[in-house]
Amino acid sequence: MHTSLQSAWNHAAYNKEFTTPLQLDLLEKYIPKSARILDVGCGYGRSLHELYCNGYLHLQGIDFSEKMIERSKKQYPYLSVDLQTSPDVSFEDYSFDAVILFAVLTCIIENEAQIHLLKEIKRVLKPDGIIYVNDFLLNTDQRNLDRYRSFKEKYPTYGVFELPDGLVLRHHSLEWVHTCLASFQALHFEILSFPTMNGNKSNGYCFIGKNLSGIA
Ligand SMILES: C[S@@+](CC[C@H](N)C(=O)[O-])C[C@H]1O[C@@H](n2cnc3c(N)ncnc32)[C@H](O)[C@@H]1O
Repeated sequence: MHTSLQSAWNHAAYNKEFTTPLQLDLLEKYIPKSARILDVGCGYGRSLHELYCNGYLHLQGIDFSEKMIERSKKQYPYLSVDLQTSPDVSFEDYSFDAVILFAVLTCIIENEAQIHLLKEIKRVLKPDGIIYVNDFLLNTDQRNLDRYRSFKEKYPTYGVFELPDGLVLRHHSLEWVHTCLASFQALHFEILSFPTMNGNKSNGYCFIGKNLSGIA
């Protein structure tokens, strides 16, 4: 059975191109070519494909949309990608040297669900493993302010809004970003301007952190 969100992402699978930047120079600073890397919410595999083309060969993707996985298998048949519909990450503890999480927190609107996913990522990362996140921040332009306001009553968190195709997205406050990523030691944090999958511009960030075993 699908949730309405899975259906909306299934619908998006062949209609969208994802655009948050994989900053390869930065990634290469922290993640060696030999690393086993998990892409959580890998979509149709564009980031894994870019990593593959740059000599990263130990790659795994998971996504909760079967159509995204289907597109990935058609478009990039050499990638290993699997459907994963549970909120848990279906790998053993300490399975990966690095995890990438690109534009996925924006799809998970509740704080608790984001924290759960980040705990799962911490669990499957090796000690000293690296997490590389990019995602969306709150904007202050009128178009965004209007849609944040329109959905303020419906969703308790400021910055959540719906798109006409049924997708529900969240733009995050900086304060929340630092709170939810606090269980990783920050190695790099940068505020960026992203193109969005709908051809607009948005504030965004990139975070690289280390899985320190002492931090819960
Ligand atoms: C904006 S797309 C980004 C895809 C990919 N990370 C990229 O940057 O190309 C978000 C992806 O996250 C997936 N997704 C959303 N919520 C998810 C969840 N709770 N668990 C797993 N995947 C999820 C969607 O199906 C979609 O493929």
